[in-house]
Amino acid sequence: MNNNNRILIVDDNPALHEDFRKILLGNQNKAEERLKSSAQDLFGEDKSTSGSRLEFELDFASQGEEAFHKVVAAHQEKRPYALIFMDVRMPPGWDGITTIEKIWEKVPLTEVVICTAYSDYSLDDVIAKLGVSERLLFLKKPFDSVEVMQIAIAQTKKWNLEQAYRKHTEELEMLVEARTKELDLERAKSVHGAKLMALGEMAGGVAHEINNPLAIIHTNGNLLRDLMTEDFDKEMGLKITEKIMKTTERIAKIIKGLRSFSRSGDDDPFDAVTVGQIVEETIGICREKFKIHDIKIISENPSPMTKIECRQVQIIQVLLNLFNNAYDAIEKLPERWVRVEVKDFQDCVEISLTDSGNGLPQAVKEKMYQPFFTTKEIGKGTGLGLSISRGIVSSHHGTFWLDEKCKNTRFAFSLPKQQPKEKKVA
Ligand SMILES: Nc1ncnc2c1ncn2[C@@H]1O[C@H](COP(=O)(O)OP(=O)(O)OP(=O)(O)O)[C@@H](O)[C@H]1O
Ligand SMILES: [Mg+2]
Repeated sequence: MNNNNRILIVDDNPALHEDFRKILLGNQNKAEERLKSSAQDLFGEDKSTSGSRLEFELDFASQGEEAFHKVVAAHQEKRPYALIFMDVRMPPGWDGITTIEKIWEKVPLTEVVICTAYSDYSLDDVIAKLGVSERLLFLKKPFDSVEVMQIAIAQTKKWNLEQAYRKHTEELEMLVEARTKELDLERAKSVHGAKLMALGEMAGGVAHEINNPLAIIHTNGNLLRDLMTEDFDKEMGLKITEKIMKTTERIAKIIKGLRSFSRSGDDDPFDAVTVGQIVEETIGICREKFKIHDIKIISENPSPMTKIECRQVQIIQVLLNLFNNAYDAIEKLPERWVRVEVKDFQDCVEISLTDSGNGLPQAVKEKMYQPFFTTKEIGKGTGLGLSISRGIVSSHHGTFWLDEKCKNTRFAFSLPKQQPKEKKVA
């Protein structure tokens, strides 16, 4: 970034303009000689290598209002002043303090040196009007030329450093914002991925679930065909057709469940759904896999007609995560069962899944809600199930917990029957 050494001198006395010109521009080389050593003291710059000339660009105003307009215009043209030397008394117009106040309203980062001969304003008056500011210096008239030069160097340098710092911070903020967006996207993807994986774990069972009714349809189709060739028994024909219809309906139900579950569900509206339907649909997805591994599913009070306002797909996902975890935990235990319970309270329902395991070790309890924490072998668990489930429940204004009083392993969550009004579409 190029250094900005633009300085505005504001004084109603033209002779003073001339003084500043002489000090800051005139006899540049001589001034430089004297001041390079000051610069070195101040900033540790090496005279032999810095190579930069102390070149200031000066501009002048005789009245406060004129100065104000110049500062605003320069700012708009993106050629701001780094520093202003401001006289205090400038009749008939605004005094220096008022001018600074107006300027800072529009261009707050401008460095200012108040030049004053007598105490027109006490320090307290200035602070009362302008506040405490690190952008303000006082310079007593008559000036010492070295002091003026030192102030000009120090304050323009300060302005430039601050600009560079702000630009850097802005760039960093933009970087952080962009990265946060990327991470959010990644998170959303992995949440969806975890859901598909949970579904994948059930896929074998689901295939079985569909295969059985297909076999039934096939057999009944055959029966029906045979029936056609003999003397047609209408009653028998009707029975077989009925069976085929029922079985296709069963398959349609499974497919509907799978379809709705594989959607993200994040944007679904909150609908009133019976808890029984949620529990049944989840068990429907799990049943076969549990049956194959001889794990008993005990369902207590499974179909209350109680309705809860929720995103059904998401609540099924929570329950399915718990079923998957239970399955992994007890698959190889001699005693294998899971129990779904629903408790109906006045304003909320509590749904829980207990498995025949013996609870969780302390080390797992401490970390289980951390995303990506898993004790399962690589490729099996993503470690997202519990953190996602807890997130879903809390987005429904409910609570998710591990029941530590239970001698088996019991996870539970409660959901309000109605969502708070203003947050329904959250
Ligand atoms: N019912 C349970 N019995 C024993 N341990 C459990 C049970 N549920 C969860 N855990 C422990 O908590 C850990 C984290 O569970 P979580 O569901 O978050 O991830 P995961 O099952 O490992 O992977 P993912 O669910 O993403 O496939 C599991 O790895 C397991 O150690
Ligand atoms: Mg899991």
